[in-house]
Amino acid sequence: MEKIELFDEHGNSRGFYSTANILNDLTGKEWLYWTKSVIDKPYPPNLCHKLRNQHGGQKPPDLCADLIKVFTKEGQVVLDPLMGVGGTLLGASLAGRRAIGIELEPRWIEIYREVCKRENLAVQTTYQGDSRKILGALADDSIDLVLTDVPYWNMDKLPKSTGFYKKVGERAKPKIKTELGDFNDRPLQSKEEWLSELREIFSLLWKPLKGGRYMAVFVGDLYNKGEYHCLSAELALMLKSIGYTMKANLIWHDRAKSLHIYGYQYTYIPSLIHQNVLIFQKPCD
Ligand SMILES: C[S@@+](CC[C@H](N)C(=O)[O-])C[C@H]1O[C@@H](n2cnc3c(N)ncnc32)[C@H](O)[C@@H]1O
Repeated sequence: MEKIELFDEHGNSRGFYSTANILNDLTGKEWLYWTKSVIDKPYPPNLCHKLRNQHGGQKPPDLCADLIKVFTKEGQVVLDPLMGVGGTLLGASLAGRRAIGIELEPRWIEIYREVCKRENLAVQTTYQGDSRKILGALADDSIDLVLTDVPYWNMDKLPKSTGFYKKVGERAKPKIKTELGDFNDRPLQSKEEWLSELREIFSLLWKPLKGGRYMAVFVGDLYNKGEYHCLSAELALMLKSIGYTMKANLIWHDRAKSLHIYGYQYTYIPSLIHQNVLIFQKPCD
């Protein structure tokens, strides 16, 4: 085993990389940093953020690049079966990894391609269609990391209830407009339908994902009609029941989210300024 000192583009030491490292290209110092269970690093808007913002659920490519660097080595392959406007694929390009993305809606893939053109980045492999129909065509043991971001159940379509979100003495406010765009034109799903579609997708990921490799899954909890829905926990239980091993629940503090006082002096409603990043591993055969 050899230890090699690595330097960043400004000539500053990144610490020592060990040739015994089979998971990633990080130095010991960087590995230690990424064991933190809370990601509080700022990710300012970049890479045509305004254009990608049409989607409403896009993730910062730099955050995706950071996660990709923790779970892969240069040149390895990352898959996102729910790619949206391509946070994962752009992150893979920034990190020097190959990526495959699948997306139901052609318009999101078009935006991803336009971003690549404007940013002078090579376009990664994309497939348009339902992941449940496409994933079966991927070769067994061909993927080193799944990095994905599940649709927010019906959060992007559900009208918020009026009457709960008011201050004492105030009239109930009319509908509060959601920040999220409509991801697709499909009808509202019940939570059971949402989970069942995701179960199909994550079950199909089993064969292409190599044994011993990881999945990082963004999922936001939500508050609706007076109740907190811990979707991260429900999704985690479902992934565990497929056979994946849970390794971590990272909390990403999304600094772009602001605090609100819905319910002030009336009822407690949390300001959801975090998303969960569930880390699962496919056991080795
Ligand atoms: C939360 S968004 C992903 C956003 C992405 N991380 C980004 O940075 O743009 C989830 C995406 O999954 C897509 N989707 C939902 N069900 C799908 C399915 N069965 N097959 C493929 N894509 C699907 C939605 O259209 C939506 O764009």
